[in-house]
Amino acid sequence: MTTPLIIAVDGPAASGKGTIAQRLAQHYGLPHLDTGLLYRAVGLGVLDRGGDFGDADLAEQVARALEPEDLFDTTRLTDRGAGEAASRVAGHTGVRAALLDLQTRFARQPGGAVLDGRDIGTVIVPDAPVKLFVTASPEVRARRRWLQLTARGETLSFEDMLADIVRRDARDAGRGAAPMVQAADAALLDTTDMDIEAAFDAARRIVETSRAR
Ligand code: DC
Repeated sequence: MTTPLIIAVDGPAASGKGTIAQRLAQHYGLPHLDTGLLYRAVGLGVLDRGGDFGDADLAEQVARALEPEDLFDTTRLTDRGAGEAASRVAGHTGVRAALLDLQTRFARQPGGAVLDGRDIGTVIVPDAPVKLFVTASPEVRARRRWLQLTARGETLSFEDMLADIVRRDARDAGRGAAPMVQAADAALLDTTDMDIEAAFDAARRIVETSRAR
């Protein structure tokens, strides 16, 4: 029996991990889950109920009551406020526990799957046969995200975007619950000087090398 191809893609905001995960999923014919969307949906749920991100019970309740339709409005889910809200609620252990089972089941589908997030290779599927940690310099990541958001009509300065990215990295990497960290057996892919085609090629080579082991 062949081992299911589970590809764990972790890394900070705007590193390119989402696009890489999507392209790998297409290439290998696998289902793809952007786990950030789950945390974003919880963050927006908390915002809609008053916005007290420090209220761990409220955040957990929202996470446990998540419905498929909470994941439909991708415009709102991918805006700047949702990213910040997601990072705030993601530090609560109850939220992470509430979202664990769904992610594990997705990852363990018979043929395999591609998941991207912050703790896929460390917590969700620590035995994934392929793990990538995708990163890029904060300036390059801020530039990419700023171009995306301003193209959609959001108004913010590049400096504010960079400050957002740096603050979010520190929060995601510094929390006690499943912090963002490169798994010991993950391949590091730095996309600072790469366009998406080069990044995808490099990712595909990593997958092939890991599968051959
Ligand atoms: O990948 P993203 O930017 O959509 O993620 C938004 C936030 O959600 C991120 O700052 C931290 C949190 N997150 C997480 O803690 N664990 C994940 N697996 C995915 C996202």
